[in-house]
Amino acid sequence: MGEGRQHEELLAGLLDDPPRIAPKYFYDELGSRLFEAICCLPEYYLTRTEAEIFASHEGEIADAIGPGRLMIDLGAGDGKKAAGLFSALRPAGYLALDISADFLRAALAKLGLRHPRLPIAGAAIDFTRGLELPRDLFEPQAAPRLWFYPGSSIGNFHPGEARTFLGRIARQCAEAPGGGALLIGVDLVKGAAVLDAAYDDALGVTAAFNQNMLLHVNRLLGADFDVRDWRHMAFFNAEASRVEMHLEASRDVAVSLSGRARRFAAGARIHTECSYKWTPEKFGHLLNAAGFTRLRTWTDACGWFALVLAEV
Ligand code: AVI
Repeated sequence: MGEGRQHEELLAGLLDDPPRIAPKYFYDELGSRLFEAICCLPEYYLTRTEAEIFASHEGEIADAIGPGRLMIDLGAGDGKKAAGLFSALRPAGYLALDISADFLRAALAKLGLRHPRLPIAGAAIDFTRGLELPRDLFEPQAAPRLWFYPGSSIGNFHPGEARTFLGRIARQCAEAPGGGALLIGVDLVKGAAVLDAAYDDALGVTAAFNQNMLLHVNRLLGADFDVRDWRHMAFFNAEASRVEMHLEASRDVAVSLSGRARRFAAGARIHTECSYKWTPEKFGHLLNAAGFTRLRTWTDACGWFALVLAEV
């Protein structure tokens, strides 16, 4: 996304009522590191539970997928999650896509050293806007594809957008010469107390992750948010089946946004993220509506998280 469009998008969101910032702006370098730290928190069960499902069903999952695929990692981050599956999945190549170019470059350099025989490439793209893959990356492009979307990042899309996004992947699976499948992680509906704690941890790491977005916006937009004026808020909205994150002004503040001023009264909120929680049934319907027909689902003992292999 060009700098101009980014400016426009941020400004439009911040001048809107209620104001909002898209969750992709969490992930500057510090934000990506804070997210890694979140994944280590005792309250943030998502990453750990997904890893447990992989560990308990590795053989079955690998058999269902089969070896020799080009693994396309959507939102690769440090690539460790995918790399942990290389020995079981035996991919023909690994393509990491992530919005954060700096983070990706450093991570792939390390990964290449550890897996010298695996063709590895990366591209810094905002894949939520389109899935046009860079051409001529490397040989195994003709291999059947495995779209890998773990971590329940699909929860950060509103349901209609999730359907569009998954529909694009389904189309890619149907049209790619070698075919394709999607392996996706999704967080499931559960009690509010567990969800509230996962998004408002005792150490305050998620609060820092949320507030850091303002520092990122300051740089991108030439704004002057003072993070000390903004409180982290997170809660499960059961009716909408989503955890919402907001930043709440702790006093009346005036912020300069690229030369435009906006006042926020004490208690005003900027909406920064929705994290939808699905039931297995509703998520199955979503995948069907997107064009996937064959689904296999694995869950943990508590039924907190699901891994789904979806084929067209
Ligand atoms: C990336 N995504 C799946 C995380 C989530 O749980 O929605 C982002 C996050 N937000 C707060 N904590 C983690």
